[in-house]
Amino acid sequence: MYRSILLDRTMSCTIIVGGFFGDEGKGKIVAHIAHQDRPSIISRGGVGPNAGHTVRIGEKEYGVRMVPSGFVYPEASLMIGSGVLVDPRVFLQEVEQVGVRDRIFVDGRCGVIEEDHIARDKGSDHLSKKIGSTGTGCGPANSDRVLRTSRQAKDVPELADFITDVAEDVNCALDDNEVVLLEGTQGFGISLYFGTYPFVTSKDTSASQIAADNGVGPTRIDDVIVVFKAYPTRVGEGPFSTEMTMERSHELGIEEFGTVTHRQRRIGTWDGKMARYSAMINGCTQAAITGIDRVDPACFGATEYGQLTKTARDFIAQAERDIGKPVTLISTGPEMSQIIDLRSEL
Ligand code: IMP
Ligand code: MG
Repeated sequence: MYRSILLDRTMSCTIIVGGFFGDEGKGKIVAHIAHQDRPSIISRGGVGPNAGHTVRIGEKEYGVRMVPSGFVYPEASLMIGSGVLVDPRVFLQEVEQVGVRDRIFVDGRCGVIEEDHIARDKGSDHLSKKIGSTGTGCGPANSDRVLRTSRQAKDVPELADFITDVAEDVNCALDDNEVVLLEGTQGFGISLYFGTYPFVTSKDTSASQIAADNGVGPTRIDDVIVVFKAYPTRVGEGPFSTEMTMERSHELGIEEFGTVTHRQRRIGTWDGKMARYSAMINGCTQAAITGIDRVDPACFGATEYGQLTKTARDFIAQAERDIGKPVTLISTGPEMSQIIDLRSEL
């Protein structure tokens, strides 16, 4: 297993989660932190393949749904924690597509998504129409898991090469003073427990759940980085208090489409109240803000705080007052290098 070359590095376990309704740009934040902090393991929590993350490699664009988005950092072992649902077809196809066969592992206890779960998700008016599910089978698979009728990853021969005990691997890495990143998916607002029920996903999405998905106890978590989007978005149905009209988002030049469903995302303005509540329940220690270049296009590509305009700095100051924790990562564009990292100033 990869070991940090920095001998003075102490054990650290960081959780990265979405603070609004998903698609906050967690993948980019994970990629940046991974290249800076050199984790030995990047492990995924979250629901399953309903979440998507778009990655550009050269000219090609991939939407990863099972492989942790931290795969772009080549030195880490990649894992999927036991709380996550695995769709073996999606998993195997992505593993080949992004070339991570030799360093990706799946907990044997992960629940398995079958064709039947997908049919039940897409075929249910309640799930596909009223809730606006992603149609990936996650809801029905989690329900079978709760009924204790579903298969586990260890029962699937095609996954045999990848099976491990993620909880054990992650805890041992922490014992050895290695750096571990736990990657959340989706966002706080679609948490089954804390979100806008019933317009939510089939599991909690908060930081505690991401720790539990990976078998990491709360006392072992050092940092929780909650990622907020300057202009939050939501896909699917459900309340969205700061939603703007389509006309307004066009005026602002903001248009987004879902990675998994290709549905157009609804766009809203900053929601300070939700940011505060989300930071509280996630146990946020530091926040990341993505899309600051939408607040002021003059900030596009900035890598130093001093390059930010007053408009952008005022926005961040207000966000810090709302969240009640420092904003230490500010994303200024889609490239991994387009980021301001203030973590060392804490
Ligand atoms: P499900 O998780 O596929 O059952 O979908 C339930 C709700 O959560 C729908 O409104 C989806 O659009 C939303 N949802 C699920 N996964 C994601 C995600 O990764 N990003 C954004 N919304 C999601
Ligand atoms: Mg997404």
